[in-house]
Amino acid sequence: MATSAAPVHDEADPYPLSQVYPLGSRINDRGHLEIGGCDTVELAAQFGTPAFIVAEEDLRARARVYRDGLAALHHDSDVLFASKAFPCTAVYRLLAQEGLACDVASGGELALALAGGFEPARIYLHGNAKSEAELQQALAAGVGHIVLDSADDITRLERVAAAAGRTQEVLLRVTPDVAGDTHAAISTGQADSKFGFGIAQARAAIDLVADAPHLRLVGLHCHIGSQLLALEPFTRAIEALASLGSFEVYNLGGGLGVPYLEHQEAPSISSYLTALTDAARTALPSARRLLVEPGRSLVANSTVTLYTVQTVKRNVSTWVAVDGGMSDNLRPMLYGARYEAALANRMRSAGKGELCQLAGKHCESGDVIVRDVRLPDPRPGDLVVTPATGAYGHAMANNYNGVPRPPVVFCAGGDARLVVRRETYADLVSRDV
Ligand code: LLP
Repeated sequence: MATSAAPVHDEADPYPLSQVYPLGSRINDRGHLEIGGCDTVELAAQFGTPAFIVAEEDLRARARVYRDGLAALHHDSDVLFASKAFPCTAVYRLLAQEGLACDVASGGELALALAGGFEPARIYLHGNAKSEAELQQALAAGVGHIVLDSADDITRLERVAAAAGRTQEVLLRVTPDVAGDTHAAISTGQADSKFGFGIAQARAAIDLVADAPHLRLVGLHCHIGSQLLALEPFTRAIEALASLGSFEVYNLGGGLGVPYLEHQEAPSISSYLTALTDAARTALPSARRLLVEPGRSLVANSTVTLYTVQTVKRNVSTWVAVDGGMSDNLRPMLYGARYEAALANRMRSAGKGELCQLAGKHCESGDVIVRDVRLPDPRPGDLVVTPATGAYGHAMANNYNGVPRPPVVFCAGGDARLVVRRETYADLVSRDV
């Protein structure tokens, strides 16, 4: 299997799909998009729109490339699913089945990871503002490792662990002062960051942990940012960790970028893992155990969103408005993220037609899902697909304008199963007291 995103299609295919669709996607005889062997027009009829459609085999394939790839390069290793990218019980369950470990960034994600079947010992708790209750919850659950992020975190966890009569294994998050080329909102490796300890502060933090009788420091963690399309910042970050002494465990974070557009190039998972392990071998000779923590590169390309066109309006531009928007995909609005879009019911014309603004249904002008996308004669009732929405789509979905959040549907071998139902209006008032 190609380790970058690449749907499987044959060479002679006159209508090849963009690389950003899930593995195994194709255009069927009716000219409809098929995901996991399921016709998306039928999925829309059965489950409604908007909907997140997940190709289960794509998720499994990428998990295996990560797991087997890292194990082949470094014997003592583990791949942690950075679950903030797609915190859905069925996704946790699938990736636990595939043998991954799990990164959680809150008590809520911890509860989901446990519900999804992750062994507590293989869960890592992160967070720059963990509460006492979250730390108590992690200890009670028997979480394997807690990643310490501040001096307050150290003293608070020491107190909680002492009260519980436990010794907790911990990692220390280090901010190596390496910034990758990505949107400022998702860059975390720079010195002036709310995350972790700068190199200058890390030594004192290491001493503080050493003096805490109920904490056992096993290693360092660093995560420099997300959607990084170059490998060099990762290797620089690893080199920066070397100045802090020798540790047994290094968690090298996540951050590998993915292609969102047909011609966008991203490093393959295997070249990323090779770069990390090469750099670690040279710069961190004491590293017995290596961990990586991918979110986006595991899940982004596994999923597409289906929408139905509601209106087409022509003024200066052609505005094609669908039944979702910033309530199911905030990424274009928050990070200027670009997506592809096509009519899933007329895929043979993908990339052709009039230049359109694909807009959402929300009450603000910024609610544009894809700007300047060609759609072939779009009409109300057409089915729009935006691929590569598996990462941080469901995760950041919200109820703006009282819009119920979409369902999640898993597809494999021509069978579709609902794993998260659509929210209802009753759900919208279910917390009222
Ligand atoms: N580890 C840590 C400690 C993290 O903070 C993150 C992501 C990851 C791993 C996984 O990073 P990934 O492999 O997914 O790049 N909402 C933003 C992304 C925020 C990333 C937060 N941390 C977006 O939609 O682009």
